[in-house]
Amino acid sequence: MPQGAQSTKDRDRLMASLARDHERLGDCVCALDVVLGESEHDVRGFDEALGVLSDEVNKHFRKEEDWMRRIAYPSADVHKDQHTVLVGTLDDFRRSYRNNPSRSNAYVIRCFIDDWLVNHMEEADKAIEDFAEARESGLRLAP
Ligand SMILES: [Fe+2]
Ligand SMILES: [Fe+2]
Repeated sequence: MPQGAQSTKDRDRLMASLARDHERLGDCVCALDVVLGESEHDVRGFDEALGVLSDEVNKHFRKEEDWMRRIAYPSADVHKDQHTVLVGTLDDFRRSYRNNPSRSNAYVIRCFIDDWLVNHMEEADKAIEDFAEARESGLRLAP
């Protein structure tokens, strides 16, 4: 198999894996909604769902950062900074929620996370995909 075809296959496989991660993160936000939809606020359930989301976010960010390094993505540092901010914010939220485990605090946290993730995936993550695709088209066209 020509090298360009192999790298396209690798890229497609990795992009599919990252897309599955994004779906999983969406499922984690839905899990927060499920807890918030219960008639009696489940303090422990929300904290646990936040912990699962935080673990998934950390795993996904490591994978995505490795991909940026492998393709020499030029805005990798800025992108990694965005990841670092979210990871720190999630830690702050978990502390804040343990100090004030109210339904309204949980709702604010859930809305922030959902907005942040959707915005990040649609803009910053999409920019990496576009770069990877353009880079490979360039590699295929190179003599
Ligand atoms: Fe990202
Ligand atoms: Fe991502």
